[in-house]
Order: sequence, then C-alpha cells, then structure tokens
Amino acid sequence: MNQDNSFKLRSLPFFYRMGICTLILTLLGGYIVSGIHLRWHYDNRDETPGLTMNDIVGAYHGVQTPSPLITALESGHPETIEDYERTALLDWLAGDRISLDYDNLDLGDLAPSEIFAMSCLDCHTRSASGPDANPDVPLEYWDDIRKLADSKDIRPSPTAIVATSQHVHAPMMAIVMLVLGLLAAFTRFSLRLTGLVIFVAGAGLLIDMAGWWIAREIASFAYAIVIGGGLYAIGITIIGCLIMLDCVLPVQKSKSS
Ligand code: HEC
Repeated sequence: MNQDNSFKLRSLPFFYRMGICTLILTLLGGYIVSGIHLRWHYDNRDETPGLTMNDIVGAYHGVQTPSPLITALESGHPETIEDYERTALLDWLAGDRISLDYDNLDLGDLAPSEIFAMSCLDCHTRSASGPDANPDVPLEYWDDIRKLADSKDIRPSPTAIVATSQHVHAPMMAIVMLVLGLLAAFTRFSLRLTGLVIFVAGAGLLIDMAGWWIAREIASFAYAIVIGGGLYAIGITIIGCLIMLDCVLPVQKSKSS
C-alpha cells in the first residue's frame, strides 16, 4: 500500500506541470544570460581581455598594479643602462608629463624615446631575436610604451552602487531559491538530497552577498564571491532540473495497484 498520500507535483494536471517547466526554463535561461552579462560587465576592469580574478578583485576591492616599466627599472633591469638614465626614466614615469615628455626634444639624450631607442630596442622589438631578446614586450612605438607606463588603479564600485545592486539581487535570488526549494519538496526525489542542495545554494548565496562587503576590506574574499555565487548557480540549476524532471517523468504506478 502506498503510505505516502501527501501532495505531490506529479499529481497535478498536465498543463499545470508544463507551466512549471516553462517557467523554470525561463528562470534558468535568465540566469545564464545574466552570467554572460556579468562577464561583459567585469571583463575589462584590468584592461586584460577576458574575465580574470583580477577583474573581480578590482570590482569589489580595487587593484593597484604598478607600471611594468617602473617595476622592471626598479628591479635593476636592464643591467646595461647607466644610473642617470635609469633615474631619468623613473623620474619621467613618476611625473605627470608622461606623454608630453616622451620625445621632448629639449631633454636631448635623456628624452625617454632616446633612451628606449639606445638601450632597449636591441632586445625589445617585435623582430628581436637571440637568447636575451624579449620580442613579446615590444617597446618600439609610443603605443607600446604608453600601455606599460601606466600604473593601473582599479577602484571598487562605490558603496551606493553595491547597496543598490544588493537591494535587488539578495531578495530576488533568495526568493527564487525559496520557491524552487518549496516545489522540490513535493517531488519524488529524496528530501535529504534536495535539502542538501538547497542548503549549499543558500549558504553560497549568503557567502556571495556578504562577500560583496567583506571583499572591500579583504581582497581574498573576492574568491568567496565567486565560489558562493557558483554554489548558488549550481544549486539552483540542479533543483530546477529535478523539478522539471519530476514534472515530465511518467507517474510510477504504486506497487499495490
Ligand atoms: C639584453 C636584452 C634586453 C635589454 C637591453 C632590455 N631588456 Fe627588458 N627584458 C628583456 C628580457 C629577456 C625580459 C624578460 C625576462 C626578464 O624579466 O628579465 C625583459 C623584460 C622587461 C620588462 C618586463 C615585461 C613584463 O613582462 O612585464 C620590461 C618592462 C622591460 N624589460 C623593459 C625594458 C626597458 C625599459 C629597457 C631599456 C631601458 C629594457 N627592457 C632593456 C631583455 C632586455
């Protein structure tokens, strides 16, 4: 005899179940689109193509990346230039006349363009070859140099924007999971299994949302945002798929009948 006479989704009429399926498909589709949108949105924070962890850390915490030229020169690279040339380049990079003074004729031999031409281009042209050359970091044109001269200073989104965004996202994402969680309780699948998934997704969402704020102080919490958001996304996909499965799978005849 079938002991379980509580309400089940699969006892609903056909169109009711199909309605639930189409809504869940739309919901999951919407999440996929917003995932893609997120990619575009944060893609270029660090001016390196593609969504990298640096973009996320930049958005929530901010990232200061010193100019690669300054880093290289300060580390003593290249060993072949004179100290006064190194100082001239570093002073130029620290100043605010980087584009103006790059090939300023008044600077004579100490014009950065002159030093680059004399001391760097042996190794730093696109066609440079040889064991010491570095054709991957060309310094031939102003455009090459400009990119390496800038220190990147990515600022996190202002608190007001984070708050406005969270004001929409946190309740929406929580309610969506609550509704799906509730529906999942009436499927044929083990409550322990669905419960675990709901818990993991809920914890993920909490970590994600809290991470938005904590990451402002502690950069490594940007990982918590990604991991938490990922757990929520996986959880909602699993639960959504289970509910849809339950709606379309044929009703099993109980053994007693
Ligand atoms: C003898 C060849 C040689 C010369 C001369 C030379 N470089 Fe390099 N440079 C290299 C090589 C090889 C690397 C990569 C390995 C390393 O970092 O040492 C490099 C790396 C760099 C990097 C780091 C790029 C990165 O990955 O971020 C910068 C910046 C740089 N050089 C600037 C300069 C400047 C400016 C000069 C001239 C003042 C110069 N180099 C002269 C060979 C050279």
